[in-house]
This record gives sequence, C-alpha cells and structure tokens, in this order.
Amino acid sequence: MASPFRSDILKGKVTLITGGGSGIGFEIATQFGLHGASIAIMGRRKQVLDSAVAALRSLGIWAFGFEGDVRKQEDASSVVESTFNNLGSLDILVNAAAGNFLVSAEDLSPNGFRTVMDIDSVGTFTMCHQALKYLKKGGPGRNSLTGGTIINISATLHYTAAWYQIHVSAAKAAVDAITRNLALEWGADHDIRVNGIAPGPIQGTPGLSKLAPEEINSKIREDMPLYRIGEKWDIAMAALYLSSDAGKYVNGTTIIADGGMWLSSPRRLPKDAVKQLSRVVEKRSRNSPVGAPKSKL
Ligand code: COA
Repeated sequence: MASPFRSDILKGKVTLITGGGSGIGFEIATQFGLHGASIAIMGRRKQVLDSAVAALRSLGIWAFGFEGDVRKQEDASSVVESTFNNLGSLDILVNAAAGNFLVSAEDLSPNGFRTVMDIDSVGTFTMCHQALKYLKKGGPGRNSLTGGTIINISATLHYTAAWYQIHVSAAKAAVDAITRNLALEWGADHDIRVNGIAPGPIQGTPGLSKLAPEEINSKIREDMPLYRIGEKWDIAMAALYLSSDAGKYVNGTTIIADGGMWLSSPRRLPKDAVKQLSRVVEKRSRNSPVGAPKSKL
C-alpha cells in the first residue's frame, strides 16, 4: 500500500529503534527509512540485525545494526553512543523491543513476571534515560530550541484485562505510564515529545505467533470489530504521524491502532491448552529460521 505521507517528512532524522530487526520494529525502520530517516536498529541477535540491515540498505536506506539487550544498561549506553557516533545525531527513539509468552498467573514464576517487566518497562525507561542527552534541546547534534521525540510501543491488554498475560499487561501499563510522565517532564524541560502506540493483533509478528498461536486462536478474526487482523504497515504509519511535524502538538498520548478490538470483552482462552502449548510455542519461536522479516512496502 502506498504511503499517504510525503517521502521526505523525516528527511535528515536519525532514528534508533529497539527490536528493530523484526516484526513491528523492522516495519517502522523500513517506513521511516523510506520517508527520509537514517536508521539504527538494536537487537540481541547479530544474524537478525545483519539481515535486516542488508534489507534496509537494499532499499537505499542508510542503516546500521547495533547488538544489545535493553535489560542491560551498558548495552543501552553503548548503542545510543554508537548511534550518535555513526549517524551524527539522535532525533527519534522508538522503543519496540518486547518479550512475552502466554501463561496463567498461577503457573507464572515471579522471575517470569520480572523478565517481561525488565524487557518492556525497565528496558523502555533505560533507553529513554540513556537517549535523553541527545534528544533534549541543545544536546549534541541539535539546536537550542528543538528537542527530539520518543515513541513507545505498548498494547491494549491492560485497558480491561487479558487472559494469561498478567506479566505483559502489567509491563505495558507501566510503559503507558512512562509515556505520560516523560511527556510531562521532558516536554516541559527539554522540548521532547513522548507518545505511544498500542497495537492490536498484527499479522506476521512474533507477538501474534506467541500470544495467539493458531492451535488455540483460529477464531480471532470473528472477534474483530473491523473483521481483520492489523498489518505492520498500520503501526508504522501511526509512528510516522507521531514522529513527523504532522504530530508536532501531540504529546503524552497513546494511539490505539487495533481496529477497535479492545472495546470487545476479553476473550477467554482454554487454560489447559495454554498450559500445554506455551513452552512449545516459546521453543518454536526461538528455533524459527533467522532471516530478514518480510516487510510490506
Ligand atoms: N511459560 C511460563 N514461563 C516461562 C515461559 C513460558 N512459555 N517462557 C519463559 N518463562 C519463564 C522461565 O521459566 C523463567 O522463569 P524461571 O527462572 O522462574 O523458570 C523466566 O520466564 C525467564 O525465562 P528465560 O528463558 O531465562 O528468559 P530469556 O531472557 O531467555 O527470554 C523471554 C525472555 C521469555 C521473554 C523470551 O520469550 C524472549 O526473549 N522474547 C523476546 C521475543 C518476543 O517475545 N517477541 C514478542 C514481542 S511482542
């Protein structure tokens, strides 16, 4: 589908995207690049980063991949520094890295809960914190009036409640709180806009294959107010709006891009099937062939 935006709306903007090697993060990297941005992607798997960077460069996008885990402060720091050193500034930070799996609260260990909080919530805060020096007005590579912008990817699970995703719901609720609090503080102090996007189920993502494996979720389309699962492109377009001048007065909001699905009641999942399948799905996710994710251009 052709973009409704001009191809130069992010011209000259350096964008760092965590989790940018696959799924929604990779689509944002692609679309931002096609709209003029230079791209740095951060992820844990070198092979995934390498093939994603090759795919971006084959489209004529100036792109780099930096290995790192958002749970480690030293990685966050070195990736932010590498972005500035290689690309000359840092204008947009997109926090798309996330971790999840289906499990009932009863079967979830505190460490499992903590792991997802660490990736999604603490990881998002850590990346924002490390990037502040470059994003704030007057920071290295920018003028004294204009700050950069941050986009945090969250979810809609915590608007109501979600079966067998207590850890993800809690983590994404914290991400939304981070978005609003930083928008307040850093908007006032540093001219940084901070917004979020809450995607619904998006086809072709690791998230959908883990949280709605086909074995237990073949009926998902029937529950959708728009009767379709979203596309990565839908989220990338929302991100373009928020990070370009089109969204220059938007601060502290989270755009829900889910076709209206969160308005329907949480759909109960069969607990026994979740119990049987969650580890199988986790293993499948880790063993899946590594390669450049297919992007809808
Ligand atoms: N069911 C229940 N508990 C699970 C689980 C499952 N399917 N998968 C992992 N856990 C638990 C582990 O048992 C462990 O807890 P314990 O020490 O009490 O046993 C804890 O979670 C951490 O697991 P570990 O394998 O050490 O974590 P990791 O850091 O290697 O992986 C994950 C983190 C589990 C979040 C992994 O799925 C991941 O890396 N995800 C990133 C990709 C992703 O999920 N993308 C989708 C984004 S929407």
